[in-house]
Amino acid sequence: MKIGVFDSGLGGLSIAQAIMARLPDHDYLYLGDTKRVPYGNRSQETIHEFVGEALDYLFANDCLLVILACNTASAESLRRSQQQYLPQKYPDRRVLGVLIPAVEAALEIAEEGRIGVLATASTVDSGSYPREISSRSPNASSVCVAAPLLVPLVECDGLKYAGPILDDYLANLGRVDALILGCTHYGFLKDEIRSMIDCPVVCPDEVVPNKLADYLNRHPEIESRLSKGASRTYRVTDLAPGYAALASRLAGSPIPLEAVSL
Ligand code: DGL
Repeated sequence: MKIGVFDSGLGGLSIAQAIMARLPDHDYLYLGDTKRVPYGNRSQETIHEFVGEALDYLFANDCLLVILACNTASAESLRRSQQQYLPQKYPDRRVLGVLIPAVEAALEIAEEGRIGVLATASTVDSGSYPREISSRSPNASSVCVAAPLLVPLVECDGLKYAGPILDDYLANLGRVDALILGCTHYGFLKDEIRSMIDCPVVCPDEVVPNKLADYLNRHPEIESRLSKGASRTYRVTDLAPGYAALASRLAGSPIPLEAVSL
């Protein structure tokens, strides 16, 4: 059986590529909901409904384990998917998110410090990051800033315009001891962000692969059911002109996209 990687669109390719590099032998199915991206300004109920449909698709297509690479999906839906969806529909399957690995990495850097988070509006509104941070380290504090302009900048090849926008978002954070990039797309700006801020920056594509490898080591009952044919399949819910080029640009190598319906 395969590892599924789900994102609202193509930004999750950053995390998918990093996982595939860390665990190259496994079989992967990437699903990007390009028909309905962005998720970041939608309601909690809508995001949860979309995530449920994506999980239905991935589990029906032989995924044993699904990584919700999308922070917005993780923030809104991970807990409900684990507590309600899986026990009712697929008790032998697993869903993992990206939010907790990022929080753990930030707290390793600044256990009792002030943790900054840049994320989509919906992720910020969910309150998930402050909740996960304070439940793990009651003396830590957090500040979350919605950075909605960064996703279109990444998608539209507009990184050269990012400077003044980032200046503004980073100023809104104030002083922080560690910064989490809480959205798949922001990883494409990590070098620029690191050059602009004077604290360690946690990027999910740098922490999730090791956390997944560790999870699989601790769960041989899952690991032993994963097939190892090194296959990669990339599916999207809308194959608009330009998506293949965008996917290849974001991933840094040609990505063959197939269109599917959920
Ligand atoms: N993939 C989303 C995330 O990581 C960003 C794009 C969106 O708003 O759907 O939060």
